[in-house]
Amino acid sequence: MTQSSRNIPSEILEFCERSSVALKDLKDPRACIEYVKKELPGLLCNRGLFIDIIKDSLRGEGFLDVQRPTTFDNELVLYIDKDRLFSLRMYLWGPGEFTTPHDHNSWGVIGPASDGYEVINYQREDDESREAYARLVEVERVILRQGETAHTFPLKAGIHKTGNPTEETLITLNLYGKSLPRGYINGFDIENNRVFRILSPRRKKEYLLSKALETLEKM
Ligand SMILES: [Fe+2]
Repeated sequence: MTQSSRNIPSEILEFCERSSVALKDLKDPRACIEYVKKELPGLLCNRGLFIDIIKDSLRGEGFLDVQRPTTFDNELVLYIDKDRLFSLRMYLWGPGEFTTPHDHNSWGVIGPASDGYEVINYQREDDESREAYARLVEVERVILRQGETAHTFPLKAGIHKTGNPTEETLITLNLYGKSLPRGYINGFDIENNRVFRILSPRRKKEYLLSKALETLEKM
């Protein structure tokens, strides 16, 4: 189903169309982040908008596409710019749910629609020369209130873990810039100093198919 046929709410459509125009002219990721950090709080503080789209979705209507496969199971794609300059995604966080530490393929701005979303930023200390090895140190930890935002950068400049330390279920909006063509992101196991690839469902199946073929051809 296309974006338009899913009746995207006007507040989200207008935000995204404004962002398309503004981001097209901005080349520096820091300038893009600065623009989005000014604009995203307006959407995040629109409590009625979230209530409406959730109620519609629970009735089996509206524009939230719960069937669409995504890399993370708490992720809903809200909008993808036609030139792939950015995407806007909604994430759902149950009490105590956190990501594993991970990096990104793009810059991004993230923020919650209610208080209490936690962002923990890490710095990678090793030189990336050892296969599957990574050593991270925590450098920053913040708890965001409704409408506050944090940001991230591509690759090792933007390693973080985020989640919900509260007793309530939270929503965040995450706007990501144009993606690098890496095809995966890195996940990190801090305790064991390991790095591993996180693939989208489609890429994971393609990867495993190619590996299964290798197994069969070796027999
Ligand atoms: Fe992230």
